[in-house]
Amino acid sequence: MKEKLQKIRENAIAEIENSEGLDRLNEVRTAILGKKGELTAVLKGMKDVAPEDRPKVGQWVNETREAIEKRLAEKLEKLEAEALRMRYESEKLDVTMPAVKNERGNLHPITQVRNQLIDIFGSMGFEVYEGTEIETDYYNFTALNTPQDHPARDMQDTFYLSPEFLLRTQTSAGQIHVMEAKKPPIKIISPGKVFRSDDDATHSPMFTQMEGLVVDKGITLCDLKGMLDEFVKKIFGKDTTTRLRPSYFPFTEPSVEVDVSCFQCGGKGCKLCKGTGWIEVLGAGVVNNKVLEGCNIDTEEYSGFAFGIGVERIAMLKYGINNIKLLFESDLRVLKQIDD
Ligand code: DAH
Repeated sequence: MKEKLQKIRENAIAEIENSEGLDRLNEVRTAILGKKGELTAVLKGMKDVAPEDRPKVGQWVNETREAIEKRLAEKLEKLEAEALRMRYESEKLDVTMPAVKNERGNLHPITQVRNQLIDIFGSMGFEVYEGTEIETDYYNFTALNTPQDHPARDMQDTFYLSPEFLLRTQTSAGQIHVMEAKKPPIKIISPGKVFRSDDDATHSPMFTQMEGLVVDKGITLCDLKGMLDEFVKKIFGKDTTTRLRPSYFPFTEPSVEVDVSCFQCGGKGCKLCKGTGWIEVLGAGVVNNKVLEGCNIDTEEYSGFAFGIGVERIAMLKYGINNIKLLFESDLRVLKQIDD
């Protein structure tokens, strides 16, 4: 009996030592100590042992069992430690590793300037009207006192889609839509893309304009000048002033070119203002009576002023960009620098 128990013990210890993994160790435990296990079988057979030998045999069985359980416990501890180590290994987190940088985008400079302009004019009570990029010849030219064969059409090299339809060359077309749809008082700005067959360092075939139109009783050129003074201070800085120069647009009479005092040199003369102290920023004027009459607005009662701003031009001046293409090439190195 002693030898049998010795054998069970040796076998069990060998099996325990060779167990790879917790599952296998459990199988071994069941095979020896389980209900149908080898050692359990010996215990069950105790009834066949002569009564006087029972205490001794019982002691051997207990010793064997204790020895096996001890080994099992040791092995279990070892395997669990190993499993834990492997889990730590696989879930290892290096908190000193540099994090993946979350790139934050910013609005395109044109969108930024467009929003700034909308904010400024919005604070003065202007509403936003967005026209369409495809226009008719009538709204883009004729209704703006620029009929067929008018020489002023030459100033805007036009993409015609058909004899009747074209890509609008100016947001001024929106003036007519608004005046047809609404009775004065009118106070709108109209931002949007315009198109001309023009391409050099300061011109692009597609660019952005913002039209302004005010029609009400008693509107004069003074109102235009006062509003512009306010506007340029907000966009270029509080020391900026304006200067109006006579100009020509078919849809305004009188027409003016608006200059601002150079916000870089303060008017002394520098590279930006080409030594003149002044920078041209937009066209404007008092709305031509012919345009108002074409929209059935009584010119005895009402008058108005209008202006057209080149958004790219404002962005280029504000941010010191010397080539308009930089605004269309989507080069992140350029765009990232401009975040107001
Ligand atoms: N539409 C003109 C252009 O594209 C700009 C302009 C000038 C608009 C005078 C106006 C204005 O409303 O009054 O060159």
